[in-house]
Amino acid sequence: MAKLIGGLGTSHIPAIGGAIHNGLQQDPYWKPFFDGFPPLRDWLGEKKPDVVVMFYNDHGLNFFLDKMPTFAVGAAPEYNNADEGWGIPTLPPFKGELDLSWHIINTLVEKEFDIVTCQEMLVDHACTLPLKLFWPEGDCPVTVVPICINTVQFPLPKPNRVYAMGKAVGEAIKAWDSSKAVAVIASGGLSHQLDGERAGFINKEFDLQFLDSLESNPEWINQFSVHELVEKTGTQGVELLMWVAMRGALAAAGGARVRRVTGNYHIPISNTATAVLALETV
Ligand code: DHB
Ligand code: FE
Repeated sequence: MAKLIGGLGTSHIPAIGGAIHNGLQQDPYWKPFFDGFPPLRDWLGEKKPDVVVMFYNDHGLNFFLDKMPTFAVGAAPEYNNADEGWGIPTLPPFKGELDLSWHIINTLVEKEFDIVTCQEMLVDHACTLPLKLFWPEGDCPVTVVPICINTVQFPLPKPNRVYAMGKAVGEAIKAWDSSKAVAVIASGGLSHQLDGERAGFINKEFDLQFLDSLESNPEWINQFSVHELVEKTGTQGVELLMWVAMRGALAAAGGARVRRVTGNYHIPISNTATAVLALETV
């Protein structure tokens, strides 16, 4: 059976792509963000996952406002990136993991999640940047199953629904008939708002409470409605739902307890409170 080695989370601000491209990791603005990654890469170097399941939100590249699935699972042999208009380099295609994709899809439908399956799927900065941040050198060494969660057009799924979907994904990984090692990744957040009267809004207190809850009390977030999450974290802060799914997967695959391997929180990069985290099950 497959092994779930742990969960990773990171923010995915498009400007990170430009900073990597321009070698700005030691620049005073960027250093406090990039300094969060070496310990996490050391851990990945030890655990050596073969496959990652990536919870992320598309921002209008693959799904536009006219067709917006709540949950969509990739089932493609490879995933292409494309120009999103942020001025960041387009990355080469990422390899899929078809067998796990279909196993997750079958499990989710069996567990009554009415998902969209995508045998072709463009992936945006939310999927490409975590891979580049975790494995900066050379070709990406892992295959990918992207799972997209709508956080861009209302109605959005509630935290407890996302947590339950993450748990179902964790159960699928645990039951996957494979000797491969799998990691789950959350790409998004934390608090940020890009537009409107509260543009630039950040809520450090809530973010830190949320990060703590991921270790000690992962269902804490389920008390909030989506509107309460927007109020507390900003219109784009709801991207923290990706972290909720990742933690749900760990809860199902490893049991209730997790250990924090490493983490970092830094304000701001662009308009966003950034966080990086690695958790392993105990
Ligand atoms: C920013 C953050 C995001 O999550 C995103 O998708 C786009 C931009 C930002 O802070 O600039
Ligand atoms: Fe985003």
